[in-house]
Amino acid sequence: MAVVSDIQARCAIWFGQPLATERAALAAVGWQVRSVDPLQPQAVGLRGRDQVVGVIDLRQIPALALTAVTEWTQRHDHLPLLAVLPSGVSSPPPSWQPLLDACQGHFSLPLEQQALLEQLAHHPQHTSTDADSPAQRLIGDSPALLATRASLFKFAPVDLPVLVTGETGTGKELAAHALHAMSARADHRFMAVNCGAIPANLVQSELFGHERGAFTGAAQRRLGLFESASGGTVFLDEVGDLPLDAQTSLLRVLQEGTIERVGSSQPLRVDVRVLAATHVDLEQAVAQGRFRRDLFYRLNVLRLAMPALRERSGDVLVLAEHFLRQFRARHPGRARGFSSCARQAMQRFDWPGNVRELLNRVQRAAIVADGELIEPSDLDLVATLPAAARALLQSAREQVERDLLVQALRENEFNVSACARHMQVSRVTVYRLCRKHQVELPAIR
Ligand SMILES: Nc1ncnc2c1ncn2[C@@H]1O[C@H](COP(=O)(O)OP(=O)(O)O)[C@@H](O)[C@H]1O
Ligand SMILES: [Mg+2]
Repeated sequence: MAVVSDIQARCAIWFGQPLATERAALAAVGWQVRSVDPLQPQAVGLRGRDQVVGVIDLRQIPALALTAVTEWTQRHDHLPLLAVLPSGVSSPPPSWQPLLDACQGHFSLPLEQQALLEQLAHHPQHTSTDADSPAQRLIGDSPALLATRASLFKFAPVDLPVLVTGETGTGKELAAHALHAMSARADHRFMAVNCGAIPANLVQSELFGHERGAFTGAAQRRLGLFESASGGTVFLDEVGDLPLDAQTSLLRVLQEGTIERVGSSQPLRVDVRVLAATHVDLEQAVAQGRFRRDLFYRLNVLRLAMPALRERSGDVLVLAEHFLRQFRARHPGRARGFSSCARQAMQRFDWPGNVRELLNRVQRAAIVADGELIEPSDLDLVATLPAAARALLQSAREQVERDLLVQALRENEFNVSACARHMQVSRVTVYRLCRKHQVELPAIR
């Protein structure tokens, strides 16, 4: 099996060293950076198929190295070149001129990082721009999401399984779809199935198909998911829910590339890439004997961990604005933005349902908001406290209630009627509260 497809790598040959943030931003749009010592540019080796752009980082190139780099660019004059200037330089020194003349564009970083990325994205060598790269459909620019996007670019062209992990609503399916769309299988089908949503007795037939008469009700031969996705990608969502017999069949797909339809013992070749997702800890399922260890190892070759939204709070507002814009494009309404209170509330919230929850709350808010700005109440985020704080508040409330009850009983010499009058509640309520707080009347007396 050819593991790496023909998809080209994108490589920026960087004369000098980009900052870590610049490197991360480039990786997130699919550019690997290879740093080159400007004094030894001859050391650059180029792989024929890669898309390559030279970046001359004039922030760091010593005067001594200018000649060597210029000569290198002349020897590689088929390569597109970009220059990075120190910010605030209005007239570059004349010694830079030959290099700048060879470059198609120049930028000051990090100020114009975006411009550099766009320049790379729209580079004529590219067949697609990054703006419509499927990885860009994962909105957000937190470091965690940049790392996720960088992994997408790395994993997509490799024809091996990827195990996508993460809490519900973190974008596991979106990421799996991006992996498919960025792979050599993009022109074939992407078939997703939620393994937990199929009745256990139908899983085998759903995934691998069945022959006519294989079981009661099997009136026709039916192709399963794996055959239907031929040439493409199968995405097994909640793979931890797969029954053990189906796990065995899946292992055979991964090891031998064959399936058997239910009711047949004829192995059939299938050509699919398997992506799987889980929100549960598969290692634990393996330890408890609910998931085959060998299957786990096969699926877990490449792992993509989707970060929870609360771990990348920087993305919350970006996503909220994005979802509101998207919603308004389809349903014009009054709400055109978020009040500052709403922004604060969104950033403070811990988003147990992650991006899906944010999407749902924003859509709902866009519908119910009366004003031009969405308020916390529209998002239903008014009294929402993190779960731990809620629990704390609840137990404090209970304690106060108990203290008040005991105090009222004491002050009224444990006369229930007097205590009820004092507390302005009924006698029944006093008895109920005593039961609730395990206050035994004779015992305190
Ligand atoms: N980074 C993101 N940018 C834009 N939309 C996102 C992002 N992450 C998730 N979504 C959206 O949130 C919803 C839930 O994502 P999904 O992939 O179904 O999550 P999961 O499979 O992890 O439960 C989908 O509508 C998806 O398009
Ligand atoms: Mg999902």
